[in-house]
Formats: sequence, structure tokens, C-alpha cells
Amino acid sequence: MAGQVRKKVDTKQIDKIIKSYDKSEESLLAILQDFQRSFQYVPEEGMKRLSKYMGVPESKIYAMGTFYKALSLTPRGRHTCKVCMGTACHLKGAGQILETIERELKVKRNSTTEDQRFTVESVNCVGACAMAPVVVVDEDYSGHVRQSKVMDILDKYK
Ligand code: FES
Repeated sequence: MAGQVRKKVDTKQIDKIIKSYDKSEESLLAILQDFQRSFQYVPEEGMKRLSKYMGVPESKIYAMGTFYKALSLTPRGRHTCKVCMGTACHLKGAGQILETIERELKVKRNSTTEDQRFTVESVNCVGACAMAPVVVVDEDYSGHVRQSKVMDILDKYK
């Protein structure tokens, strides 16, 4: 998919993480969280190696990876840029803001830039309608965002 980065993962790092835990099913979640911290997502190769090492079916590990919200099975950017597409924001031009971001960062919504700087998401109302249109980068809310200024906001995040 365009914008989804499939970079080669460091298998040595994967094995190092796995072997730093007890060979017990109770370690599975902690290992997946460790993958998430190290790679900003849970790589497929990591799930395969973990399955082999623990003797646990890959399907079980995959199910855990999809169940826990803190885990992502696709690469994430260092920053998350959420563009609110709720009704109030939509009426105030959120669509054009999102298009500007997609064009400038060369990324499609709900995917990650090639340099893994941003994961760009379109989201439902973030609860700040009075400030519409709203863009949230990581935990920082920007309100009354103008199309011409949105890249100035994103430039602050390297
Ligand atoms: S619609 Fe965007 S904050 Fe509510």
C-alpha cells in the first residue's frame, strides 16, 4: 500500500529481545510491547520468531497483536498527526487541510511517511469542536488551523 513502509527489520534485535525474557507464555505480551518500543510497531518477522521460540501458534500471537490497542502491526511514524474529520471540522475545511498534508508529506491518510516521521490519520471528533478545524500532533492540539499554516505546525516535529 502506498505510504506503508516495509523496511527490513533487525533480526538480531528481535532475537535479543526474545531471549531476554523467560521462555514462558506469560512473557508474550511483554515481548510484543518491547518490539513495539524498539521498532515503533510489531514486525511480522518478530511474531514468527517468537512463535517458533515459544512453541506457540503464530495465530495466537497475531491475535494478541491485533487485540491490544498499544500494539501496531504496521510501521508507525515518530509522530502521529490526526486530522479531525468530524462534522464541525469538516464544515470548516478539514478536508483541504488533510489534502495539503497528504500532498506536502507525500503520504496517504491512515499511513506512514517513507521517512517514518509521521503517521497521518483522519479521525472522528476529538472533542474540541469550538476550535474547529483541529489537528492533533502527538498530544498537542492546534485549533482554527488554516490550510496555509498547517505545514508550519508540522515543521516543529522532526
Ligand atoms: S468535529 Fe473536530 S473537534 Fe469536533
